[in-house]
Amino acid sequence: MTTTTGTPRTDRLPLLVLGQGRDLASERGVECPGDLPAPSDPGLVERARAAKAALGDRLFVLGHHYQRDEVIEFADVTGDSFKLAKEAAARPDAEFVVFCGVHFMAESADILTADTQTVVLPDLAAGCSMADMAAIDQVEECWDELVEAGVADVTVPVTYMNSSAAIKAFTGRHGGTICTSSNAETALTWALEQAGDGGKVLFLPDQHLGRNTYARDLGRPLEDCVVWDPHRPMGGLTPEQLRDATMILWRGHCSVHGRFSVEAVEAARREIPDVKVIVHPECRHEVVGLADEVGSTEKIIRTIAAAPAGTAWAVGTELNLVRRLAAQFPEQRIAFLEKNVCYCSTMNRIDLPHLVWALESLVDGRVVNPIRVDPEVAHHARVALDRMLALPGETSKD
Ligand code: 13P
Ligand code: SF4
Repeated sequence: MTTTTGTPRTDRLPLLVLGQGRDLASERGVECPGDLPAPSDPGLVERARAAKAALGDRLFVLGHHYQRDEVIEFADVTGDSFKLAKEAAARPDAEFVVFCGVHFMAESADILTADTQTVVLPDLAAGCSMADMAAIDQVEECWDELVEAGVADVTVPVTYMNSSAAIKAFTGRHGGTICTSSNAETALTWALEQAGDGGKVLFLPDQHLGRNTYARDLGRPLEDCVVWDPHRPMGGLTPEQLRDATMILWRGHCSVHGRFSVEAVEAARREIPDVKVIVHPECRHEVVGLADEVGSTEKIIRTIAAAPAGTAWAVGTELNLVRRLAAQFPEQRIAFLEKNVCYCSTMNRIDLPHLVWALESLVDGRVVNPIRVDPEVAHHARVALDRMLALPGETSKD
């Protein structure tokens, strides 16, 4: 599908490696100033309860479905990234929004909340490896190269929520929209209409969600997709490939979902009688193609909840959620699709000690780890987020 040309760019790494001093700003969450309680402290649950009670209505705690049980217990609302973005925007009275999720989600919450509200991420090292695979200078450079190739004026960017605020702002400035795994089909349909006949979509940063939405959900040809490698001149593509493509997929992926394999689906079908396979659309196209159901975390939960008792499921998404589903729905037979896949390590950075530290600090009148997006960036990012929220029939369809 994609031929890459040119010399790889070795001056940039796709991931910022913690602890190696390459980008000190990326390590700012590793050190936790103040009194981080010990994980073994038997009083942590009580301390979290007391701090929440002391803050009362001033506080609103959001928890993504991939968070640990010990953290989810203190969430006022749980959800996928789309639902949490909407919930954050719908709580203008909460002075503090504590986001138990990852950095890009907290940034989106900051953009969608009022200036008088403060969003807190209990551990600043809770990033996202996929979001780190697209840096703003790489994306700007890509756009310049699309201009050079004469295709930028017919290209509409669609950016997955899992991206930095700077890239969301880029999307807003260039007439594009944000999407999440629960509305990618609607967002992509809108963008293709905006691009018009012969137009293109630049889909950032998850190639799998982009490809799955285009080829599986919209039923369009895989051959229309090319992959833009930010480490190669001109994305590693020829001018002809760029001209012929409809979907320019950024070469990014989720380090958790990218590991679910075709072999695991085949093994589940062999080993579990009448199993249904359900996976997140960040999984590779071959895996999604073999699944019975595909959807956002919210859809996975809803589908399993609605299934008749005794249904067997092999679930391809983050392990914290799969384990919780197995505990919540004992009448179903729920298995984790791939034994070799681990928790999302960055989601797991938020643990009870960090949550207690963040909440007790607020009780003491100190805001730790506030997430504040630069106002200029926030303005343009909000344009792209608002376009998503205004999409036709926009609901968390999945
Ligand atoms: P959802 O939008 O389904 O919550 O997914 C977010 C995410 O990070 C998946 O890896
Ligand atoms: Fe990012 Fe993947 Fe973790 Fe989601 S599961 S936060 S996409 S690394």
